[in-house]
Order: sequence, then C-alpha cells, then structure tokens
Amino acid sequence: MKTFLTKSPEEAAEFIRRGRTVAFPTETVYGLGARVFDEEAIAAIFRAKDRPADNPLIAHIGDLQQIYLLATTVSASAQKFIDAFFPGPLTLVMPKAKAVPLIATAGLETIGVRMPQNILAREFLKFCKTPVVAPSANLSGRPSPTTWQAVFEDLNGRIDCILKGETTVIGLESTVLDCTSDIPLILRTGAVTLEQLRRIEPKTEQYESQPDENPRSPGLRHRHYSPKAKVVLETPGAEFGSRAFIGINKPAGGFDLIKICDSPDDYAHSVFEFFRRCDRAGIEVIYCETVDEEGIGLALMDRLRRAAG
Ligand code: TXA
Ligand code: MG
Repeated sequence: MKTFLTKSPEEAAEFIRRGRTVAFPTETVYGLGARVFDEEAIAAIFRAKDRPADNPLIAHIGDLQQIYLLATTVSASAQKFIDAFFPGPLTLVMPKAKAVPLIATAGLETIGVRMPQNILAREFLKFCKTPVVAPSANLSGRPSPTTWQAVFEDLNGRIDCILKGETTVIGLESTVLDCTSDIPLILRTGAVTLEQLRRIEPKTEQYESQPDENPRSPGLRHRHYSPKAKVVLETPGAEFGSRAFIGINKPAGGFDLIKICDSPDDYAHSVFEFFRRCDRAGIEVIYCETVDEEGIGLALMDRLRRAAG
C-alpha cells in the first residue's frame, strides 16, 4: 500500500470519506482514523497497528452535535464535562448508540468520545463530516507518535494517508473518564486532572484496578509505550553499555543521549519522541527521572511505569 502524505486537511478527509485510513495530529498524540460507521475501514486500523481486537477505539468529533450519533444518553455530569472541557484532551465514555459497530468498541456497549482542540484536527474532522474513530497512530505497544515522522516510521506502507502537522503540544494521550455510572471514574490519567474534574463534579474518582479484576479500560491490560531499550526509573548506576537519560535535573555521569526538560509539561511533551530517538540510536538503557505525581506528573509517571513494565 502506498501511504500518501499531505498537509491539506481537505485532501486527508477525502480519504476518510472513501473508507480509507488517515493518521492526523491532535493536541495529545497523532491518531489513526477511519469513519465510525464502517466496519471494513475500522478493521483496517486494527490490521495496520497490529492492535489486539479487545482494545476499543475513541471516536473523535469535529462538531458537538455528533455526540448524539455516537451515544444514546448524555448524563447530566457528562454534559457538564463537555461544557467545561470540549474541545480538549478529555475522552468521555458513554453508552453507545446502536449504529456504532461493535468492532469500534471491541464488543463493549459503551463508546469513548473526544473533541480534539488542535486546529488542523478540527479542520480535518469538519471536512470528514462524520465522527472518526482513532487509536494512537503507532504500532501496537510502541510509544505513541508525537510527530508525523514517528507515524511514518511505524506505519508507512500500512495506512492510506498521513496528514502532516506540527509536533503535538501535550505529548501524552487524553484523560479517559467513564461517565456511565453515578460516580465518574478516571480510567486513564492525562492532561485533564482529577482536581480539575472534581471542580466540575466533586464525586469524580480515580479508578484503581483490583488485583484479580479485569481492568475497566481494556487498553490497560496491554503492554504500552515501550521503546526497544530497557526503561529504568532509578538513579543511574554504573551499568555497562549505551545509556540515555531524560529528566528535569542534570544527572551525574556520562550518557550517549541526554534530554534535560524545563518542566514536567516539557518532560511529558518530549518523552515519547525521546524513547524513539533512543531506539534509532541503539541505546540499551534509558534512565527516566521520576517527578511528583501532581498535575501532568501523574499521567507522566503512569506512562513511565508502563514503559518500564
Ligand atoms: O489522546 C488520545 O486519547 C489519543 C488521540 C489520538 O485522541 N488516542 C488514544 O487512543 O490514545 P488509544 O486507542 O491509544 O487509547 C484509547 C484508550 C485505551 O486505553 C482504551 O482501552 C480506552 O481508551 N477506551 C476506549 N474506549 C473505551 C471504552 N468504551 N471503555 C473503556 N475504555 C475505553
Ligand atoms: Mg495507544
């Protein structure tokens, strides 16, 4: 398959309208999209990414009215979250409309819906004239792509089109919030924090999976965000081999690759691309400094722990 590269949101949307797969930028990470009411097109996403069939996709909308094509009911608290955070890096899980194919939701009767803020994403989605389901545009298990070049690295020849935009601003995936019961539950941390959500709905809780339970968010079962290099969250020791460091404070010792970030936001923005750079350079061990688990730091530590396995 030849992968077409374009900077035109209109041209990229034309692929979606013809039932093809398109990678596009958002403010979080790049997504790999297909039109939502098209089982064949969605199957092509799972194939291109090598994604397990039990991991549901997020539907992206360019227009608030499209929520009603996707969800049967928008609860009072879901509506408050929409008013406060759409467009933005928040995905709301709601009861799915019948017309949404089960392949999109991995068999679940719920659907995650998000309205991206990124300007190019919004133009693209407007031209698509349909909601677009999209997981992150990486090969399954690899770090999420924050540049179009990272998408190209993983998926060239496996998808129909890449809409070339800028490096994503946030760099970590959206907060996923389950709004299907009385207590809104954070299933995946992201740039929208528990404190911010509680200002809108004080009952909101962070979901903690019990040892023997099936996770509520199926994606949490799978290994994630992993470079080929070994990821370590300890202070650099005296190991042999090529090593890299990412963090906020300059460490002692020598490294083959090093990235000092200005702030936790900058760290979150940079970490997935740094993992990819390390793999390109054949780094064996990546030391990641830990950060305080507040604000974006909570989501960042979640991703670092998953990458460390
Ligand atoms: O920022 C993002 O969310 C990016 C951009 C492209 O929008 N997308 C993204 O998609 O990260 P993906 O597929 O890599 O992660 C989706 C996460 C998974 O953990 C999945 O299990 C969860 O959202 N999810 C999706 N639909 C769900 C549902 N109906 N119920 C529970 N969890 C759901
Ligand atoms: Mg993903």
